[in-house]
Amino acid sequence: MSEDHLLREAQRAGKLPGLPQNHFIDGAWRASAGGGMMESFDPGSASPHASFAAGDADDVAIAVASARRAGEGAWKKILPRERGHVLSRTADLIRQHGERLAIAEVLDSGKTISEARGDVAGAARCFDYYAGAADKNEGKSFPLGEDYASFSINEPVGVTAHIIPWNYPLSTTARSVAPALAAGCTAVVKPAEQTPMTALILAELLHQAGLPDGVCNVVTGTGAAVGATLAAHPDISHITFTGSTATGINVMQAAARNVASVTLELGGKSPNVVLADADLDLALDNVVGAIFENAGQICSAGSRLVIERSIHAEFIERLVQRAKTLRMGHGLSERVNFGAINSAEHLAKVSSFLDGARARGLSIATGGRATVDPGTGKGWFFEPTVVDNAGWDDPVVQEEIFGPVLAVQVVDDFDEAIAAANCTPYALVAGIFTRDLSKAHRFARDVDAGQVYVNEYFAGDIETPFGGNRKSGIGREKGLIAVQSYCKVKSVTIRV
Ligand code: NAI
Ligand code: MG
Repeated sequence: MSEDHLLREAQRAGKLPGLPQNHFIDGAWRASAGGGMMESFDPGSASPHASFAAGDADDVAIAVASARRAGEGAWKKILPRERGHVLSRTADLIRQHGERLAIAEVLDSGKTISEARGDVAGAARCFDYYAGAADKNEGKSFPLGEDYASFSINEPVGVTAHIIPWNYPLSTTARSVAPALAAGCTAVVKPAEQTPMTALILAELLHQAGLPDGVCNVVTGTGAAVGATLAAHPDISHITFTGSTATGINVMQAAARNVASVTLELGGKSPNVVLADADLDLALDNVVGAIFENAGQICSAGSRLVIERSIHAEFIERLVQRAKTLRMGHGLSERVNFGAINSAEHLAKVSSFLDGARARGLSIATGGRATVDPGTGKGWFFEPTVVDNAGWDDPVVQEEIFGPVLAVQVVDDFDEAIAAANCTPYALVAGIFTRDLSKAHRFARDVDAGQVYVNEYFAGDIETPFGGNRKSGIGREKGLIAVQSYCKVKSVTIRV
């Protein structure tokens, strides 16, 4: 089927034929041990579009055993450069199957097709990047003098678990699995129960690319039945988790019992600072993108605008105008540039934040309500929303809403802007718009965040390390540093 035809068919049927229905374990599709199935909902229409296996502890046990066997067998014997070839062939296959992956992602997650196509391109790029890392994972030598030869080897940690959220299902799976495989580890992936499809398709593509059976397994199901059992499994050596801070803490506690290591990429409440000297057209474009892309369901969304008082009123007026031009609707429609909220449950959570804001008398400059696709009257949507001039202690400033809701904090000068930027328990990313090089550097120095963006929000790519401080997480993904999370260093010292 041509790509055009695939999209038109999916638009017409509200489904994508031939989606996987079972776990992918030991190189094959496998039904749940307990026989259970669950439904995945299309958030753009609020109706189920596919069903998939509801896994349990037995499925997790089979998948971990398969990953362990593969790590001690076939995958161990393959040269690092051959691991790289498998990853680069996977990148090609992701591009070849790009439209199918993008449509599956839209139906599962509610995002727009252009956002999903971007995610697919990014996933392919991620596999290309780590393909090149597989044969460059060099050790060191240590200067003990001429009587010793002392060196280190970066060994794979073993079986790794990857627990994935629903907001960027394919991207998060790619950026976590690709460096693990490059390091020589094996993997068990647990996609979010709202969005299992693209991880399953990816596992199939990895298999087609020549990945030996059992090296990458995908077990679908709920967080309680599959995620928690996987995190607690004694044969897991490292867990990479992306999701809420509360669940991240549970995962870290489970890992502690087995002395397993963790990478946690948790929530955020990231500030986007606009100073009076900034290029305000540029700042406006970026403030809009930072909070309304993916309908604000981004860990690193710029969910707080910190703005100097002298430009505040005019900037908010322009921001509100821009928010009103967003075209909301089902993600498979190519005219839409603002998609759905992932689930009814999450929509209720976003709405409750705005109910609270109204009850406290906050000024809602635009939006503020749950709504539907204006074309069909269906789906889970939330209006692009700006809550103006919020107090620093207000829940809309302090808590992750994870929706298209921007909280505005007005400040009188640069020092107050830095204090405002640092006023939450989170510390994931921070943006600043200014023409003053010295202020940009001082901000980068004084803001607590894993990454700082100057004059371009979301700047950086797979090459740039990514992760959070404080309640936003621990460890770093992306970049070459991610490969180290999946390695254990062995030093060997020989008396000559
Ligand atoms: P969650 O953190 O509970 O879910 C993320 C993943 O963890 C899913 O695959 C889930 O099945 C799994 N999981 C759930 N409980 C688990 C457990 N006890 N052990 C192991 N795995 C478990 O997030 P949820 O409930 O989907 O969303 C709640 C809030 O989390 C959102 O409103 C949002 O604020 C935040 N969130 C943040 C994300 C980020 O990128 N930082 C992504 C998704 C949600
Ligand atoms: Mg879904």
